[in-house]
Amino acid sequence: MLHVLEHPLITHKLTQMRKTTTGTKDFRQNLDEIAGLMAYEITRDLPVKPVRIETPVSACDTYELEKDIILVPILRAGLGMVNGICDLIPTVKVAHVGLYRDEETLEPHVYFEKYPKEIKDAVVIIVDPMLATGGSACAAIDMVKRQGAKNIRLVCLVGAPEGAKEVEKHHPDVDIYLAALDEKLNEKGYIVPGLGDAGDRIFGTK
Ligand code: PRP
Ligand code: URA
Repeated sequence: MLHVLEHPLITHKLTQMRKTTTGTKDFRQNLDEIAGLMAYEITRDLPVKPVRIETPVSACDTYELEKDIILVPILRAGLGMVNGICDLIPTVKVAHVGLYRDEETLEPHVYFEKYPKEIKDAVVIIVDPMLATGGSACAAIDMVKRQGAKNIRLVCLVGAPEGAKEVEKHHPDVDIYLAALDEKLNEKGYIVPGLGDAGDRIFGTK
């Protein structure tokens, strides 16, 4: 299921990121802040378990998170969303999936993968600022599923309708969260209006 998280703060910060004139420092900072705001929304339905604790005043029946949470940034650009989410959920473990998109074919290529052993029973949150053709997201979902992950969420900043459809078609069990659903892809596979090449803008390459 596709969720577009509409919130004035998210929209404002994303607008700053979209501007051609925004430099690396502000681009990174806004991405970090949006990731934190999105984390609050995407974790709204996390499973909790009942626990009995002692407060300084009395016993208290309350709840704690039931499952491990594993964050999976798709390298490189997904790294830009890790700190913002870790600030809100400091106990997350972080897997890494290295993928790059061939500029001609737009096909994803895997160059790295590393996972915490708890992945089978954890809530797995895959992060990447851009969901364009959906090829990279589908490949990352396939990779974590091969590790036994069952409870998977995909969190991107900007998505194209083509990419959202591709993920829904191949992985109907995965919830997709976006800060904005844009208009389309252009002939080079870039999201329109989008924000350009997220990895290059985060890391100052190119
Ligand atoms: C970008 C982006 C996604 C992918 C999206 O990464 O961060 O991972 O493209 O495109 P898709 O939906 O068509 O697969 P890129 O391959 O440019 O690598 P980078 O993060 O290292 O810049
Ligand atoms: N990757 C990006 O970084 N930007 C796009 O618009 C599409 C893919």
